[in-house]
Amino acid sequence: MNTYELLSSLKIKSIYGALPEEVHSIEQDSRKVKKESLFVCIRGFRSDGHSYYSQAIHNGATIIIAEEKLPIDLTKFALVIVKDTAKALAILANKFYHYPSNKMTVYGVTGTNGKTTVTTLIKQLLEKNNQQAALLGTNGIDLLNESVESDNTTCDVLTNQKILHRVAEHGMGHIVMEISSHGLAQGRQRGVNFDVVTFTNLSQDHLDYHKTMEQYGYTKGLLFAQLGNNLTEEKNVILNRDDPWYEIYNGMTPFEVISYGIYNEADFRATNITYYEDHTCFTLGSPEGNFPVTTKLIGEFNVYNVVAAIATVYSKTMISVKTLVRSLANIAHINGRMQKLDLEAPISIYIDYAHTPDAIEKVIASVQPFKQNRILLVVGTGGDRDESKRPIMAEKASVADFVILTINDSRYEDSNAILTDMEQGMKHNNYICIPNRKAAISLVIDKSEPGDIIIIAGKGLEKYQITEDKKHPHSDKEIAIRNCSIKYNLSV
Ligand SMILES: Nc1ncnc2c1ncn2[C@@H]1O[C@H](COP(=O)(O)OP(=O)(O)OP(=O)(O)O)[C@@H](O)[C@H]1O
Ligand SMILES: [Mg+2]
Repeated sequence: MNTYELLSSLKIKSIYGALPEEVHSIEQDSRKVKKESLFVCIRGFRSDGHSYYSQAIHNGATIIIAEEKLPIDLTKFALVIVKDTAKALAILANKFYHYPSNKMTVYGVTGTNGKTTVTTLIKQLLEKNNQQAALLGTNGIDLLNESVESDNTTCDVLTNQKILHRVAEHGMGHIVMEISSHGLAQGRQRGVNFDVVTFTNLSQDHLDYHKTMEQYGYTKGLLFAQLGNNLTEEKNVILNRDDPWYEIYNGMTPFEVISYGIYNEADFRATNITYYEDHTCFTLGSPEGNFPVTTKLIGEFNVYNVVAAIATVYSKTMISVKTLVRSLANIAHINGRMQKLDLEAPISIYIDYAHTPDAIEKVIASVQPFKQNRILLVVGTGGDRDESKRPIMAEKASVADFVILTINDSRYEDSNAILTDMEQGMKHNNYICIPNRKAAISLVIDKSEPGDIIIIAGKGLEKYQITEDKKHPHSDKEIAIRNCSIKYNLSV
């Protein structure tokens, strides 16, 4: 892109040195800089991009965007000083990639639990109706089935624009994005022009970062407030009517709210719910009337997720509720979220991703309607993350008949110390602490009896465990299948 055209998007700046005619790429990581790149020095949590300008120049950068003067050879390179490089990056990246989010319908989903589930459902509902959609979230980037793992649920500003640009180049009409509270607090979705944003629920998590529930809730609210005030645009907000934050988020946006829920009157409301071991049925009240719904997802929490996804897609497409309900019937479980293992065993095993107190409470409740014998729960938590939720997770876990407390990813923390924190919340003595996750899963299966339901919570289908900063291959599903096959003589 022409340099003058690109830089004209920044209103307040000082330019020093020799400006090249063209910019061929924008980078914030000096290792990724190529010939004729523009390098933006971002002050991050771990490092400051201002320390890497010389590496960027060495790798081919011709323009450096910084917040302070740097000793650059101005006869060969240009230095542009701005007040806030993070904001400048969002503006430049948008301009460079030709405002890609304006070329498609952009869906944002936020909330403590259910983001991956709801975003995946939205994508699948669109695809079942012949509309191509990309997905961005915890499981990485899924763009025309080209999937790339991502380190964070929400990508950085520059990566977002690069991905949106690729989605636009592929001519895809939709992108569905999972928006974490960390991403919102750090402005990682700056410059993404959302068309519809959806709220799942709010409960305790991430208080190591946000400190109070109020702060956490208001941070999530940024997504709704940032839809803006331009009422010539058709934007929508989809809110959970049964969550206490409904009224607050409703007040944060001038756009029309579409509500969904179970217990309160709502635009999309599920009633007459019946729970089965491998599916759920309910009646969906909607602006187009009542429809009988069958979904392969189980549990009340998934009724919320399913209804949220239908309301969201309905708000932005011409697809009728009747068609969406029909499409939903063909959508399988979401990987690693209350995923029942397909085994010919006298027990049922679910692999799940619950790692908050509310999610643990909800997954145990989801299997109660078809409990025959006991509910056995393996539940873990992670090191170097919100310590205050640990005893509350154990308290919620106590509803299960037998509990094994274990570790998801210890990171730099001592596993035994994590388990001691959790243990404080246990309400009965029918539990055991086993730091080694593989041993925990082996034991729960060994202790099982016909008719038992086992839930293995915390990691879903993740393929590794993290100790310190190392990733070790690990699969809850494989360990469970192997041990179950041995215990019950299955041929798999
Ligand atoms: N609507 C919901 N309410 C409460 N718990 C839920 C809900 N949906 C899912 N869960 C629980 O949370 C777990 C994680 O679900 P999901 O991956 O969809 O959430 P997420 O918000 O994407 O999580 P993360 O913040 O880790 O990305 C599920 O395995 C289930 O235990
Ligand atoms: Mg997620």
